[in-house]
Amino acid sequence: MKDATAFLNSLETKARMFAPSARSTYEANEALCSWLLNPLARWADGAYGDRAFDDAAKGYAKYCMGVWKSQQQYEKEGRYTPETLPELISEVYEDEGYMVPYMWAAILIYPFWPSMVSHIELYRDEFLKAIPAGGKILEVASGHGVMGLLAAETRPDIQLRGFDISPPAVAVSDRLLDISGHRDRVSFAVKDVLNLETSGEPRTYQGIIAAMLAEHLQDPRPLFAVLGHHLADDGLVFFSTALESAQRDHTFEFHQESEPIKLAEEYGLRVTRLVCDAGVPVPGGRFLPRALGMILRRR
Ligand SMILES: C[S@@+](CC[C@H](N)C(=O)[O-])C[C@H]1O[C@@H](n2cnc3c(N)ncnc32)[C@H](O)[C@@H]1O
Repeated sequence: MKDATAFLNSLETKARMFAPSARSTYEANEALCSWLLNPLARWADGAYGDRAFDDAAKGYAKYCMGVWKSQQQYEKEGRYTPETLPELISEVYEDEGYMVPYMWAAILIYPFWPSMVSHIELYRDEFLKAIPAGGKILEVASGHGVMGLLAAETRPDIQLRGFDISPPAVAVSDRLLDISGHRDRVSFAVKDVLNLETSGEPRTYQGIIAAMLAEHLQDPRPLFAVLGHHLADDGLVFFSTALESAQRDHTFEFHQESEPIKLAEEYGLRVTRLVCDAGVPVPGGRFLPRALGMILRRR
């Protein structure tokens, strides 16, 4: 049966430049990273066969190169320079050729980037384990679907609905879902999650996952309104975002950790745990790319 080593082996041949740092991050946090990569390897192999691992490694390499170029551009311009939203929708979110490799990378950065590993621990130990028994979970921007599938794998008592704006991303999550055996409790569908804001009964979800979405929005406020509307009184949110970290489809620029915290507070939430780790800056640059993760509860 395939496991984490299948991803690492493919990195050695298809993403050679990025393999040593990915392997050392994995080896320094093996139990945590395997918790994510072992089930992912089973699902990837079942859904896509052997080629999944080379495709994932190529997607990871392309993404790392793109992020590095965007960060250099950011240093030069002093601000993010994303394409317009209609361009991003047609050339990124609706484009299968762009989106599928991107989705492999989006999940592989968790176990392979030092700045993301703490998010796995926060998600598993402070979010998934703390969701009330029998809880309903909403995942906004479910992308590849792996966060939601790990939730179902870890908590056999929960049900999860995931939404993402990207049809090719939802197709990936659906293929992995079919193999995972969790279809009776998990569903993924295409939706702009900002349209969730006022629909449906309020306060119905005991868990909300909003991982690495806020920086993709023109304005993150409507996302916090969604969280404030849908979170149950006894529920928890897993929220994460990038700060001073440029990428082709990063449209909203957070500079300080206090900015998402203040937004959460404005919408009736409070932070009960927070992690924030830095990535690799451009040498001599003024920006420090960071990845922030928080657990939010109702105030
Ligand atoms: C970096 S990926 C994050 C995926 C996953 N949550 C994770 O943590 O790896 C960003 C995702 O946000 C989705 N997205 C961007 N804007 C969205 C919106 N308005 N509604 C729903 N999904 C959106 C993109 O399609 C993409 O799948």
